Amino acid sequence: MSHDNLKQYTWAEIQKHYTRSSLWIVFEDKVYDVTKFLTDHPGGEEVLLEQAAKDATIAFNDVGHSADALEKRRGFLIGEVAESERRPPPFTTGAAEGEKKVNWIVPIGIILLGVTVFFIIKHFQ
Ligand code: HEM
Repeated sequence: MSHDNLKQYTWAEIQKHYTRSSLWIVFEDKVYDVTKFLTDHPGGEEVLLEQAAKDATIAFNDVGHSADALEKRRGFLIGEVAESERRPPPFTTGAAEGEKKVNWIVPIGIILLGVTVFFIIKHFQ
């Protein structure tokens, strides 16, 4: 879903901003320009540069950033990842598991059929 008419960026565009002079980081499909924050980040420059032009949602959450940090982050929002290029939703179980079962049934069925045919032929020899 796109909110608030945010500007849409493709990953090709995002990946051009990976240096000190222009540093973008993606969190939860939102694009943040943290260039000006680089020297102010309490966690240091290095960690931000490591996440340059990447999706750093997990890294950010793993640190256990404060509500204050989240509020600050909001101030750097410049857009969102183009709808067609977002992470796929997690796989749902239903269809995928159904397919797996069918995949097993086919080779087992062929083997059983082969064994049956073998014994029938033996029986009539
Ligand atoms: C827009 C993005 C970010 C903002 C606004 C931000 C803001 C902050 C703030 C305000 C703190 C001080 C502690 C707190 O209030 O939670 C902090 C600490 C920290 N940040 Fe970030 N941060 C951002 C991105 C990141 C990223 C991508 C990483 C990568 C892992 C990171 C790693 C850290 C670490 C390791 C600390 C801990 C410093 C310590 O406890 O000594 N931050 N950050």
